Amino acid sequence: MKKIETVSELRNIISAWRRAGETIAFVPTMGNLHPGHLQLVKQAKVSASRVVVSIFVNPMQFGEGEDFANYPRTLEQDSEALQAEGVDVLFAPPVSEIYNRELTQTTRVEVPKLSDILCGAFRPHHFVGVTTVVAKLFNMVQPDVAVFGKKDYQQLFLITRMVEDLAMPIKIVGIETMREANGLAMSSRNNYLSAEQKQQAAEVYRTLITMADRIRQGEQDFESLSQFGIKNLQEKGFQPDYVEIRRGEDLGKAQSGDKPLVILIAARLGNARLIDNLEVA
Ligand code: PAF
Repeated sequence: MKKIETVSELRNIISAWRRAGETIAFVPTMGNLHPGHLQLVKQAKVSASRVVVSIFVNPMQFGEGEDFANYPRTLEQDSEALQAEGVDVLFAPPVSEIYNRELTQTTRVEVPKLSDILCGAFRPHHFVGVTTVVAKLFNMVQPDVAVFGKKDYQQLFLITRMVEDLAMPIKIVGIETMREANGLAMSSRNNYLSAEQKQQAAEVYRTLITMADRIRQGEQDFESLSQFGIKNLQEKGFQPDYVEIRRGEDLGKAQSGDKPLVILIAARLGNARLIDNLEVA
């Protein structure tokens, strides 16, 4: 595995691969890799002949007072894990390589409206930071396929929309969420939880399962079902940002009879903001 930090080195490798007729799968990450990330890499391996993984903690997607400075950075460990997975290139650029001017002066890529709902309502500049950096990384790597986790459901939705709207010739693949034995969705931010909180945090998934079961049994009053979810999480010691039932096709608020659905939760527990979701066919 080659570890590189500059766009020019990356472009040289990509051009050589292209001349040799190789195809490229890309997994963008912010590092601190866990088995969920490695699942994305495994999918990338079977999607193309070459795999590029990026590790870049993107300042543009963190708001003021958020965890940019404290976000776990474990490059050495991550690099070993990626090498073991047979990744061809680890692209781990410094901030100056991705942003050559101040963030407020940088050209932005924004998916309007969809960026403002759900997590966007609580993290106002987050998604413009995500779509901007992913668009930049796509321009640098020029992959045929890019793999993302379904845990960040709204992110995956926005990136799929961006690729469609900007006619980027990239296939976006979404991978099911990997969970701990107790159901907790794997996430780098679980590191902010104590062992006890990790047990408690599984209540997010239990709430999703209960709500999905109730929908499958015919419950269609989504407003009161969401209220049930919020109350349940509050009683278990969480501060929920939202518990929402949305249409799978456009993330609009679901009405009785809509299908398929996705239930999405964001809730704070201790120092962590946990997000999770469950699709209901
Ligand atoms: O999901 C993430 O880790 C990040 O939001 C991403 C897609 C790598 C963009 O910085």
